[in-house]
Amino acid sequence: MSLIKVTGLNHRYGERAILENINLSVDRGEVFALIGPTGAGKTTLLRIIDLLEVPGAGEIYFDGKCIPRSGKQRLEIRRRMSFIHQKPQVFNLSVYDNVACGLRWRGEGKNKTAEKVDHILEMVGLKGYENRNARTLSGGEAQRVALARSLVLEPEVLLLDEPTANLDPISTAKIAQLISYVARQRNTTMIMATHDMSQGQQLADRIGVLLDGRLVQTGNVTDIFRSPQNEEVAHFVGMENIIESVIIANNEGIAMVNIGGNAIQAVSNYPVGKEVYACIRPEDITLALSSTQSSARNSFQAKVSRVTTLGPLSRVEINCGFRLVALVTKISAEELNLQEGREVYATFKATGVHIMEKEIRQ
Ligand SMILES: Nc1ncnc2c1ncn2[C@@H]1O[C@H](COP(=O)(O)OP(=O)(O)OP(=O)(O)O)[C@@H](O)[C@H]1O
Ligand SMILES: [Mg+2]
Repeated sequence: MSLIKVTGLNHRYGERAILENINLSVDRGEVFALIGPTGAGKTTLLRIIDLLEVPGAGEIYFDGKCIPRSGKQRLEIRRRMSFIHQKPQVFNLSVYDNVACGLRWRGEGKNKTAEKVDHILEMVGLKGYENRNARTLSGGEAQRVALARSLVLEPEVLLLDEPTANLDPISTAKIAQLISYVARQRNTTMIMATHDMSQGQQLADRIGVLLDGRLVQTGNVTDIFRSPQNEEVAHFVGMENIIESVIIANNEGIAMVNIGGNAIQAVSNYPVGKEVYACIRPEDITLALSSTQSSARNSFQAKVSRVTTLGPLSRVEINCGFRLVALVTKISAEELNLQEGREVYATFKATGVHIMEKEIRQ
């Protein structure tokens, strides 16, 4: 049974609709990532789930019970959840007191408090920091104190609002490791808002894509990144090749689509004549100097039109009668001497082509 369920949720600020008809359920122990661009409504949705705000319409169920719009029961349920903010929030106290304060409010004894704080500080890698003032810590350390303060209370639900947005890559990796450890060891249910696609991919059991206040698609990592439901989601998840095409043949689920006079094989059940988008992830395209024998169904001769370096990767734009973008490692780009005008072969599998219905725009 789901631990948190949201049905028909709508929310406005003034005249503006911020969230529209959100339906979502998260199981106990599940890590759910909410991804979406800035302003999509992620923080607002987390705040509503944390019962900090009352939605304009819709219901929230916690552990099967519908939560009333006001009253004492809300506070009792809030105590079972914990919210980690984008900007680490710590008190102007020692690290020890920051972590211990929640336990003291709950009336935990001195020895038990010390034992629990000690254990949590060990877990977040801040042993030896007990007497430091938390305000003097780095961003990453402060975020770990904020996490420790939540975790020491053993919440059933952890709501994380971009927990690594302001951190350097090393601190980000530490926090991500910690989140994944807590999810596995404590079976804590988590809902995490993030812009960081790779973080969503690494940590989440399921992902929801929030675009302009609507939860457009929910699914596992493969569903979201390989089979986006529409053009909007496809763009957001980095599906760089979204090509208008039409089905010209279909033989038991192996379809042939026409892209500017070229035939591409794809896995699809759409019938002949159907107008579609063929989507290919840039990392699924292999570039080589000769047309090597491979099981891939699609191979095209192409000319490189542009190469851009993105850290360890190279983004290569090619023209094979139609435009494609491929992502290869910088090392292979150098080995292949990829530069403008270079002739290459682009290869991708039929299973690497996702066929998406073309939406009729109103
Ligand atoms: N208290 C408020 N009053 C009026 N408008 C608000 C309020 N809080 C948020 N908004 C608006 O609601 C929309 C959604 O905001 P929200 O903070 O939920 O987005 P977000 O997805 O968390 O964005 P980000 O990725 O930048 O954190 C934005 O347009 C924002 O300006
Ligand atoms: Mg936000």
